[in-house]
Amino acid sequence: MEFSVKSGSPEKQRTACVVVGVFEPRRLSPIAEQLDHVSGGFLGNLLRRGDMEGKFGQVLLLHNVPNTLCDRVLLVGCGRERELGDQQYRKIIAKAIHTLNDTGSMEAVCFLTELNVKGRDIGWKVRHGVEASTEALYRFDKFKSKKDSARRPLRKLVYSVPTRRDLPGGEQAVQEGLAISNGINFCKDLANMPPNLCHPTYLAEEAQALAGRSENLKVTILDQAEMEKLRMGALLSVARGSRQPPKLIIMEYKGGEKSEKPIVIIGKGVTFDSGGISIKPSANMDEMKYDMCGAAAVFGTISALTNLKPQLNVVGIVAAVENMPDGNASRPGDIVTSMSGTTIEILNTDAEGRLILCDAITYAKKFNPSVVIDVATLTGACVVALGSQHCGLMSNHNPLAHDLGNAGRSSTDLAWRLPLTEEYAEQLHSNFADLSNIGGREAGTITAGCFLQHFAKRYQWAHLDIAGVAWKSGKEKGASGRPVPLLTQYIIDRWHEKLAEAK
Ligand code: BES
Ligand code: MN
Ligand code: ZN
Repeated sequence: MEFSVKSGSPEKQRTACVVVGVFEPRRLSPIAEQLDHVSGGFLGNLLRRGDMEGKFGQVLLLHNVPNTLCDRVLLVGCGRERELGDQQYRKIIAKAIHTLNDTGSMEAVCFLTELNVKGRDIGWKVRHGVEASTEALYRFDKFKSKKDSARRPLRKLVYSVPTRRDLPGGEQAVQEGLAISNGINFCKDLANMPPNLCHPTYLAEEAQALAGRSENLKVTILDQAEMEKLRMGALLSVARGSRQPPKLIIMEYKGGEKSEKPIVIIGKGVTFDSGGISIKPSANMDEMKYDMCGAAAVFGTISALTNLKPQLNVVGIVAAVENMPDGNASRPGDIVTSMSGTTIEILNTDAEGRLILCDAITYAKKFNPSVVIDVATLTGACVVALGSQHCGLMSNHNPLAHDLGNAGRSSTDLAWRLPLTEEYAEQLHSNFADLSNIGGREAGTITAGCFLQHFAKRYQWAHLDIAGVAWKSGKEKGASGRPVPLLTQYIIDRWHEKLAEAK
């Protein structure tokens, strides 16, 4: 889909459809008011006749509105006229996009950017308009014999900005929105792939393909033998039970000076988590194909960066393995030695994420990182604690936690901090090794965080547990693309900070 920005009056738009808002009860938005005025009260009459109440999510498509140059006018219900929240704004946009796509308008000019969204400026509204539109039109139909695509799909969408002065900022917002949306779609496509096809080797090939179509991106793949040389005993122990060989995928985005320390983002890429010998119950086990959503988010973020081209260095590391039961698989009670030298007693083979991440975190040292952020569908406990609104955020560095929290709020991809104090770490005591890989029934998300923290002592480090936010279950089953918006925003913020410091 093509996006752009424009300033101008609604009646002068030569387009298939002009989109405007109506509030409840039967109140026109300022732009709708303007259309009403030029059309001799056409819209007002319809509302009085009871055709539209303005309820949230209601739509009314009009043809031949007098004295306008457009083929149609789409009225979208916005609910009560008070300041809208972020999610409501995105839902209104999504409703408009679905209606346009289903009713034959191949292009449209959208004036919903005039709505007041609490604390948000026009740039935010344009960028999130682009993101919400792309989200509304996303489909994963690679494996459907019949694709149910619209006969006349929406191809071009113009977002209106109040004045000509707002055009440069608006265009910038479109570019950011597009880059992030493409990253989100890439993340979703990888995550939605079935686990028989999306295995560690597939992810490695996708990384190489991404490098092939991007500037500034260097990809390195470490195979099992190379990881053995590095003594990544924890990571390799997870891969032992699978026929699929593990891969460590390194994507170096080089936008800054060579000497500049990179931001390192690490993704959990368990392409299927059966639990291993501590096998999971079979209900909904298919959803464990999503246990590589941290990895998919790293791919999505790196791909967004290759479009946005910020002048920073960012390294994406993906630990890709499959966790399966097998004669060669790890047993509960096994002790393995991580790359750092720390020995780990595996008391549950289903707590595999931390085993692969700890070696990836140790490996990151070679990049001399400014910060290290890992992203993982790490614990079922996080789904219980925070549900699908906020992901879990844990960190050993307050300013980093603060920056990630802010990036989450401005991108509407929320994170909530959990404490990581020493007392919790005691739960990881093992009678036989330096650490156990499980911490008991209580505070499962935090003890997993403590486990990772042990390997991140020398860094400014944060951990995002995305188990509750990375995908939706049930009828709308599918990947969410989170936390690509949060991660990309965090990096954009660092870039802007750097530009401000240079001035
Ligand atoms: N990938 C799972 C976590 C998960 C479960 C994410 C369900 C989303 C939905 C992880 O590898 C796992 O199995 N964790 C265990 C840890 C436990 C054995 C300490 C869990 O959460 O039950
Ligand atoms: Mn598991
Ligand atoms: Zn897992």
